[in-house]
Amino acid sequence: MIIFKESSRINSHLQSLKKDGKRIGFVPTMGALHPGHLSLINTCKSENDITVCSIFVNPTQFNNQEDYINYPVTIENDVKLLIESGCDILFLPPASQVYPKDYQKKHYDLGNIENILEGFYRPGHFQGVCQVVDRLLTIVDPQALYMGRKDYQQCMVIQKLLELTKRQSLQLRICPTQRETDGLAMSSRNLRLNKEERKQALNISKVLNFMKKEIEHLPIPQIKEIAVKELEKDGFVVDYIEISDAQTLEPASSNSKPLVGLIAASLNKVRLIDNMALNS
Ligand code: PAJ
Repeated sequence: MIIFKESSRINSHLQSLKKDGKRIGFVPTMGALHPGHLSLINTCKSENDITVCSIFVNPTQFNNQEDYINYPVTIENDVKLLIESGCDILFLPPASQVYPKDYQKKHYDLGNIENILEGFYRPGHFQGVCQVVDRLLTIVDPQALYMGRKDYQQCMVIQKLLELTKRQSLQLRICPTQRETDGLAMSSRNLRLNKEERKQALNISKVLNFMKKEIEHLPIPQIKEIAVKELEKDGFVVDYIEISDAQTLEPASSNSKPLVGLIAASLNKVRLIDNMALNS
């Protein structure tokens, strides 16, 4: 695996590979890699000639400084996992390579999707995600981009970013959420849970399964109410439990369309998110 730290170097290396007809697939990450990330690498490898992964903990997408400071960094292990998974190229830039002095901060007109759910609880978060992904896509210039369904709203935001930046020919591939054997969605933040919290965290996926089971039987407001009570009982601070239209993420009032259940809740300041298709 080749590791690049400079934008201009990786860019010219990849441009020459493209000239030779190679198809480039890209997996952006913030590191602290786990099998969820590696599943994206594997899918990317199976569909492209060259797999590029980036590791960059992007400061502009953290609305909470404490969360940024505490974000796990496990770079040596990440490099080892990437080599084992057969990743071809790692982009590991310092912030000055992603946001050089002449970087002009852009605003992305994302519409209402940036004000709801994660956008509501993490103001500015999706602008930051768009800034970094826009920059990384300019540097890497891949034919396909691999993202996890675990961050459902982020996938929708990136789809919108590709439209806004006229990158419609770039293929966005959304890959399934990888879970621990007991059902907890894999996440770098799980590293910050102690033993007791790790057990409680399982209730997020349990509650999503309950919502899926009841969607045809109980009214939506009642399902949400039971779900919130269930998590609060276990010591969670719930930001939201929503049942939304899977296309727009607007809150749903009936189950005539494909719906997705979405949860964001914290255990002692460790904020976890998860989602599940409810009726499709
Ligand atoms: P990060 O949280 O490191 O996630 C990188 C990619 O891995 C994202 O597309 C995310 O959805 C995916 N992923 C995380 N957990 C997963 C799981 N359990 N199963 C499947 N995929 C999973 O998301 C980000 O970084 C950043 O916002 C980023 C897009 C890199 C921009 O900074």
